[in-house]
Amino acid sequence: MRYFIGNWKMFGIPKSLSILNRINKYYSKDKNRNKYKVIITPPYTLIESYSRHFRNKRISIGSQNCYQKEQFSSNTAAISPYMLKSVGAKYTLVGHSDNRGEGDSDSMLKDKVRYAIKNNLKVVFCIGENKKEKKNKKTLIVLKRQLRNVLEKKFNKNNIIVAYEPIWSIGTGKIPTANELKKTTIHIKKVLNGIFKKTSPAVLYGGSVDGSNIGMFKEIREIDGFLIGGASKTSKKFIDIIKNYYR
Ligand code: PGA
Repeated sequence: MRYFIGNWKMFGIPKSLSILNRINKYYSKDKNRNKYKVIITPPYTLIESYSRHFRNKRISIGSQNCYQKEQFSSNTAAISPYMLKSVGAKYTLVGHSDNRGEGDSDSMLKDKVRYAIKNNLKVVFCIGENKKEKKNKKTLIVLKRQLRNVLEKKFNKNNIIVAYEPIWSIGTGKIPTANELKKTTIHIKKVLNGIFKKTSPAVLYGGSVDGSNIGMFKEIREIDGFLIGGASKTSKKFIDIIKNYYR
């Protein structure tokens, strides 16, 4: 199974639903549709209405984040996994570099993963090195630490997807070379095999993926799918990625 996950970030209002309707239409008729899943993570404000709209359709709706407490608490503006599940979310991102940059620590991320899974959300756990770590050849060490500090064997691997997103690549148009990326993805799967005892969750790539560079990524069979930011905000760009992947 391959994954195409669109992360809308701070984008979208109720009428942006038309973008997803167009994607869903393509997805429903695509002859390759059973080979992949499309998941979109709109902002919190749209999760309930979009989840309801797509309840019996192919696209799944997820959240971009969740709070590190399970149900209700006195944290202003926080949204828990329980609340997300109650409005129909099926997935949640955890550990996106935007949120790590705003202070999400490994122990907070561990609670997010734990409570999300407990509330039947599937977790897309994001990891990635920054520019300086890459320059200092620390990528593999950083990724191993990010994985081991948060993921545990007792989290069923079927509830987890890992998204490798080099921070220097997000929104910049810069992407790793095919060799680099293959090596890194194999390393990530090796670390995950260690955590989950000889089996690995799906591993996605994210960072400046679009319809014109997807051909390169497609050659790396170890990559199980993509987390797509900028190019998920128009139906044409998002559909182009899927089309060109299966071309
Ligand atoms: P991008 O974002 O595709 O715009 O680089 C990816 C992400 O941050 O998930």
